Amino acid sequence: MANPIIVAIDGYSSCGKSTIAKALAKYAGYTYVDTGAMYRAIGLYTLRHNLTEPADIIAALPNIQVGFILVDGAQHVTLNGEDVESQIRTLEAGNCASRISQIKEVRAFLVAQQQRMGEAKGIVMDGRDIGTVVFPNAELKLFLTASPEVRAQRRYDELVEKGEKPDFAAVLADVNDRDYRDTHRAESPLRQADDAIVVDNSNLTREEQMKVIYDLFDRHQ
Ligand code: DC
Repeated sequence: MANPIIVAIDGYSSCGKSTIAKALAKYAGYTYVDTGAMYRAIGLYTLRHNLTEPADIIAALPNIQVGFILVDGAQHVTLNGEDVESQIRTLEAGNCASRISQIKEVRAFLVAQQQRMGEAKGIVMDGRDIGTVVFPNAELKLFLTASPEVRAQRRYDELVEKGEKPDFAAVLADVNDRDYRDTHRAESPLRQADDAIVVDNSNLTREEQMKVIYDLFDRHQ
């Protein structure tokens, strides 16, 4: 790694951020960090402990440890040492993550941990506030977007693959609700950093999109 950089990838839910970030990390030989998984892990903790009041969630933060482990080469998130990768990938955990991510103290808790993870650079991090708050000085910032219908179809296909029986209209409504919450919350709302490069992948194949992104990365080396 000649000159390691920080790549910040932000964008709406289900626009393929993590697939792209993982592929780019592999291409670059960098560490990948899925910050959505960290919010989901805290969301799961609050579901398990029936915590709904922000004050109770904030009080529980010192008891919560979020980490990552590698399982057969794939990154899994851990909650207090337990591998919770499959439990956090449900609609319920996603919605809970979206709600708890509105709490300022929860964000400060995770942002500090994310900044420590990027100290040595050589990192690809995806989320909602990476280019704006976590790493405002990241060398390469990408903002991914795709139409709500395309994203709902992707989420629907993922849930079917996991054996769930989703209703498309409900999945689309959920995508729209999540977009609204993510862009309208008071704390670090999802927005494009001024110096981010927008990639709309509604009409791009995975290969076309990755070519665009690898080229951008190569030019920032
Ligand atoms: O990317 P995801 O669907 O796994 O994220 C789950 C929720 O976490 C999402 O609704 C918003 C929140 N989130 C956030 O607020 N900031 C981040 N950096 C990453 C995720």
